[in-house]
Amino acid sequence: MSKKIVLSGIQPSGKLHIGNLIGALQNWVRIQDDYECNYFIADWHALTSQYADTSELKEYVKDVLVNCLAAGLDPEKSTIFQQSRIPEHAELHTLLSMMTPLGWLERVPSYKEKQLEVKDKDLNTYGFLGYPLLQSADIMIYRAHLVPVGVDQLPHLEITREVARRFNNFYGEVFPECDGLLTKFPKVVGTDGRKMSKTYGNCIFLSDSSKEMEQKVRTMTTDPQRIKRTDKGDPELSPVFQLHKVFSSKEEQDEVAEGCRTAGIGCIDCKKVLIKNLLTLLEPIWEKRESFLNKPDLLEDIISAGSNKAREKAIATMELARQAMGLKN
Ligand code: TRP
Repeated sequence: MSKKIVLSGIQPSGKLHIGNLIGALQNWVRIQDDYECNYFIADWHALTSQYADTSELKEYVKDVLVNCLAAGLDPEKSTIFQQSRIPEHAELHTLLSMMTPLGWLERVPSYKEKQLEVKDKDLNTYGFLGYPLLQSADIMIYRAHLVPVGVDQLPHLEITREVARRFNNFYGEVFPECDGLLTKFPKVVGTDGRKMSKTYGNCIFLSDSSKEMEQKVRTMTTDPQRIKRTDKGDPELSPVFQLHKVFSSKEEQDEVAEGCRTAGIGCIDCKKVLIKNLLTLLEPIWEKRESFLNKPDLLEDIISAGSNKAREKAIATMELARQAMGLKN
């Protein structure tokens, strides 16, 4: 039996952080053997909001690639590619745009939300409105069945299914309807207790040195009511404990929670345990990052071989799509 087709992408809109590692990369690695996996760097998607200053785009594309490989994606198992190297995504996006009602795009919750949230950029653009449809093209062009994403992306999968259905109704069955592949993963808070996000400046980046990581953890906020070492604290009010829940063993979690509640340990002791566990997780990743960063030719070989492989699949789907739409004899 042939394996189901998986597709997912990540935007190179900044350097990746440990939230991306837990929320996306580790999951991608975990399912590599179970499905026919396609993972890509969504550089056109990054342009939908970061079109005015592209000076860091190349660096972010490289950061995503290096982190994917360092986290354990294996180019022998998964097709790893860069969206802009597959022009067929743009062609399918154009064809889909002909038959996609504007209201479907205007109704996607992230459209208005992000426009309101992001104040330093003008997101009143054609490309930004089309963001979910470009994502639909990404998914449909590999005729993917499963899309590993977070819940925030579900509206984009909903519209993808609707667009696929509409295409199939008009022109005949070409595209399967995709499903989300949701895996439970713990929420990774940033150093200030809010969701880890580059917009909040509270990230521990995968590219941070051990010194930078330690410094960030050491200066993290804790239970604001635990001011003196002798004050008893509530671990649930401390972002440090939220990170223990992700990165520390159950025993360690119980130990630091108890120590916090009884003032048996200080916040520094608690942070030391977290730092130790982050080091254990990150050291092998840092090592692999270094080794890939020292081999730019190898990186180019990997992304170009992956993109060629992806392109063959995309070309085959476009043949079907053009034929179905009456663009070919
Ligand atoms: N929108 C996704 C995100 O922000 C990135 C993405 C672009 C994507 N195209 C995709 C994810 C296709 C899955 C499938 O995380």
